Amino acid sequence: MIWDYYNGKTLFITGGTGFIGTALLCRLLSQSSPKRVYVLCRGGSDKAKAKWTDMLPPSAAQILTENERMTILDGELGNTARMSLSEETLQMLKQTVHIVIHTASSAQLYSSLRELAYTVLAPSIFLTQYALKFPNLERFVFLSTAYANAHLWKSHESTDISVDERIYPLGREEEDYYKVALGAWSAVQKTGSSDEYDAHDFPWPYAYAKHLAERLVQQKAAERNKMDKVLIIRPSVLGPADKFPYPGFATSHGAPSTVCAAEYMLHPGRRIRLSTRCENPNQESTIDEVPVDVVVDRTLVHVALRTSGCVHAVSGEQGRLSTEEWWRVFKKERRLPWNAKPSWVSDDWHSPNLHQMARRFKIIGTSFAFSQGRTVKVVEKLGAGEKENLRLFADRSKPYSLHLRRHHIRLQAVEVAKKEKWPVCSARLLCQKGKAVACPDENVKA
Ligand SMILES: NC(=O)c1ccc[n+]([C@@H]2O[C@H](COP(=O)([O-])OP(=O)(O)OC[C@H]3O[C@@H](n4cnc5c(N)ncnc54)[C@H](OP(=O)(O)O)[C@@H]3O)[C@@H](O)[C@H]2O)c1
Repeated sequence: MIWDYYNGKTLFITGGTGFIGTALLCRLLSQSSPKRVYVLCRGGSDKAKAKWTDMLPPSAAQILTENERMTILDGELGNTARMSLSEETLQMLKQTVHIVIHTASSAQLYSSLRELAYTVLAPSIFLTQYALKFPNLERFVFLSTAYANAHLWKSHESTDISVDERIYPLGREEEDYYKVALGAWSAVQKTGSSDEYDAHDFPWPYAYAKHLAERLVQQKAAERNKMDKVLIIRPSVLGPADKFPYPGFATSHGAPSTVCAAEYMLHPGRRIRLSTRCENPNQESTIDEVPVDVVVDRTLVHVALRTSGCVHAVSGEQGRLSTEEWWRVFKKERRLPWNAKPSWVSDDWHSPNLHQMARRFKIIGTSFAFSQGRTVKVVEKLGAGEKENLRLFADRSKPYSLHLRRHHIRLQAVEVAKKEKWPVCSARLLCQKGKAVACPDENVKA
């Protein structure tokens, strides 16, 4: 049984108060009995508990706030492996931890590479180096993004880019890409950029930072002959949970397409300017949104089954949505009496003439077919009963809907209104009312 694997194990988790981290802790602690789960949190126990209480209904929050198996460590990731922890704590983690799950990261797509060196790259490198010294380490998990390879949209002509669960070197295939990665890391630290970054068109510096971090994490593992211990999970665009900890679970900023819906909801015009190179963009361009519980279950299953290397946590070719499908659902939610539709142009994805959501997310108007063969293979090893209780694939048996995220769309819309200096009541008026949380308690087995 997958959950048995975690019984008696000691885990160290970063980013435990984030979207994925919270869902992962709820799932792990409600399904298995680890010996101890250490959670690194800036601000310590009070801050973590306040965040969980704020984002979860009481029955789910309780799993985390009153859990005797969990210890919250007040610390922060940064430019050293110390994480602001005492030497004694660092030694204790080293001696006891079996599994490290590193989900903490800056989500600032547009931070400069200099900043991302501090918020994404250095913490991941130092944590990897530190964890690989643990004598009992069974798995080090690094949360990356499927869009670490989004530059492929620009280097290929197809309108549907296939992306495999592997590293795509940025230099020539025959080059030693670990060496190249070390050179790029050194350049980023010295100059705030690198030749390979300049040579490829990534949508955001963040995507390149994750691409480079993946290679550096693997390089550190290769150096110590521990490649088999490293698992890289690449989620696509996170969406609310299908089922765990309850249907619709999300954080207020965690799901990018909720943010888009809020912005489009308030768009006063009839046309929303988006960029594409597809001939029939409404049908051909797609969004791969993955429910957060699918990301969590894929991660926990692959760890338990000792997978190493890269794994996509995505909806995949069958589960992704066309822009048309997404727009049809959005239209039902929009309250302005006139419709807003995409107005497709062939501008570059960095063009300043696009709607601000297209300028921010850039992958709108593209299409990626992320493979998920490694999860399909792993499923073959699971028994029928076990499969039934896991969320390894997005549930597309029900029609896609924005219904369960109305509350978050409204919150986002209020933020947009404040930023634009529009009356806040306009945002409330133009967005449907939704419940903050809907938590059928049977989903949360304490
Ligand atoms: N959201 C998406 O659509 C998406 C898609 C693909 C991949 N991902 C990746 O998945 C992972 C988790 O994403 P998420 O959406 O769950 O993130 P999130 O909700 O933004 O949460 C980030 C977490 O990281 C912590 N954190 C950030 N910087 C830290 C630091 N310097 N020291 C200690 N803790 C720090 C935050 O702590 P505080 O509570 O103190 O802020 C928070 O717990 C990230 O690696 C992200 O890049 C996300």
